Amino acid sequence: MKHNDGKVVNQVDKSFRVVPMTFMCIVLCGFSFYLGRIFCSENITEVGKSTDETIFGPPSAKFIEFPECDIAYQDYTPCTDPKRWKKYGYHRLTFMERHCPPPFDRKECLVPPPDGYKSPIRWPKSKNECWYRNVPYDWINKRKSNQNWLRKEGKKFLFPGGGTMFPNGVGAYVDLMQDLIPQMKDGTIRTAIDTGCGVASWGGDLLDRGILTVSLAPRDNHEAQVQFALERGIPAILGIISTQRLPFPSNSFDMAHCSRCLIPWTEFGGIYLLEVHRILRPGGFWVLSGPPVNYKRRWRGWNTTLEEQKSDYDKLQELLTSMCFKLFNQKDDIAVWQKTTDNDCYKRLAALDTYPRKCDDGTEPDSAWYTPLRSCVVVPNKNVKKLILSAIPKWPQRLHVASTRVYDVRRSNENTFHHDDSKWKKRVKHYKQLLPAIGTDEIRNVIDMNTIYGGLAAALIDDPLWVMNVVSSYAKNTLAVVFDRGLIGTYHDWCEAFSTYPRTYDLLHADGLFPSESHRCDMKYVLLEMDRILRPNGYAIIRESSFFVDPIETIAKGLRWNCRKEATGDGGAKDKLLICQKSLWYFKKSS
Ligand SMILES: C[S@@+](CC[C@H](N)C(=O)[O-])C[C@H]1O[C@@H](n2cnc3c(N)ncnc32)[C@H](O)[C@@H]1O
Repeated sequence: MKHNDGKVVNQVDKSFRVVPMTFMCIVLCGFSFYLGRIFCSENITEVGKSTDETIFGPPSAKFIEFPECDIAYQDYTPCTDPKRWKKYGYHRLTFMERHCPPPFDRKECLVPPPDGYKSPIRWPKSKNECWYRNVPYDWINKRKSNQNWLRKEGKKFLFPGGGTMFPNGVGAYVDLMQDLIPQMKDGTIRTAIDTGCGVASWGGDLLDRGILTVSLAPRDNHEAQVQFALERGIPAILGIISTQRLPFPSNSFDMAHCSRCLIPWTEFGGIYLLEVHRILRPGGFWVLSGPPVNYKRRWRGWNTTLEEQKSDYDKLQELLTSMCFKLFNQKDDIAVWQKTTDNDCYKRLAALDTYPRKCDDGTEPDSAWYTPLRSCVVVPNKNVKKLILSAIPKWPQRLHVASTRVYDVRRSNENTFHHDDSKWKKRVKHYKQLLPAIGTDEIRNVIDMNTIYGGLAAALIDDPLWVMNVVSSYAKNTLAVVFDRGLIGTYHDWCEAFSTYPRTYDLLHADGLFPSESHRCDMKYVLLEMDRILRPNGYAIIRESSFFVDPIETIAKGLRWNCRKEATGDGGAKDKLLICQKSLWYFKKSS
């Protein structure tokens, strides 16, 4: 090809000019789109929330009338299903850990309530009694009657507040513990975990003392223990310390407790103690009651020898010292150790001949979703040292303070934290107008399915309810910030079943959850799971863009929920609220 001046046009040169121009065009378009998003959006971009609907377009859902599951599924916990235990190993009780069914084995039916199920007794009465027909399981009543965990009386189970180490009632037991740990009385200790919780009487008692506990126990022979806890309105979750980390960030709980919880603390190189060490914040307390504490007086009742118990106690003390715990106090059956606040202690873990060693950087300290336990010490980094128990503000001031860990999250800082807090204050006010049940005894157990900093829970703090804050296992990890402000939560992947029994929550709140889930699994599975864990007559508040609200509403109809669409109250038309109520229905044999 020639120019009209006769020079040969260099094709290569031309294309070289076209490429940068095209590139410039793309960059400029991208930049103006980016500016448009910043200046036209009503909020600061939300950390961890997906905007995928703009990429993937509106999902569609056709109406499906979900069948009822068989009544045998009334207590179905898909990822901890005893029917599948034999597929998994017995070593370290790993069969009781989470093992979710493969996709082809997923149930696509509605879990029915037991025959005779009634609307649960409401908080605070529920702490002491529940309907027998709602949790119709007798094992604890029959086997633990001398320990007063619960007692069947007429149509009810009564909870006298007993436990293995406190058969005469949890109140006096906690009084003694408070004498040993004065930090339990002045707002220093706010969050706790009770490993091997039974029916959660310890966590229930602490609620009145301003301490919020995650009560944790597996689905095992202590039939329905976590179900009883939740039926009582006490925060609890299914879980076991076995081969994988517990689903919580490092350095988060102020206190951990085990009363005769049967976890073999001194076995397997103290690997379970190392996990307690990981999740406790520096200066946090580990409380153990039961063997081998007080072995000098108690060994006869424990069916062992004095020597055996002494050796177990010495081994325990040695392991705890080796991972930088110090004995803090001890009286009668209760011993208390404190995780060090002094990082010098960890320096000696670098020596080659020590056990346990400091963990290498191969695993993130906060990675805790199907993350194997390791026999090494997670040493708190410099940032976390500022979060030692005695250095953080006391409860309740702590609730509105952004911890330094907010800066560990990309695009997250004190401003985004405070902006989120004031946003949720306004939103909760609006929710209460739309759903007057919030703030009454109708709503006790709440899950915020996709939280960032626990803003919803903070805005509801004066109401008679508690919130399990869920941070998606694949989202930005803000859960440590939630714990630092004195709230509780867990990691979870909503394409799988939550670690709880059916009918255990009164309110589920999902804010911008579906865009991210919808390209990981079919939305119907997330909604079927919501239906499983929601109590009959319980509510769901789903906050989504209009793209998603319509298909969600269609699926919700198939779940027999009654939904209505509402404006968000934020002034924007882009998002909508779907407020749904699950209906109470009973299993029909014919279906
Ligand atoms: C004897 S009961 C004690 C219950 C309660 N702490 C009390 O004092 O009444 C033992 C508890 O430990 C739980 N448990 C046993 N092994 C466990 C493990 N590896 N991880 C978590 N909990 C466990 C049992 O499910 C049960 O809740």
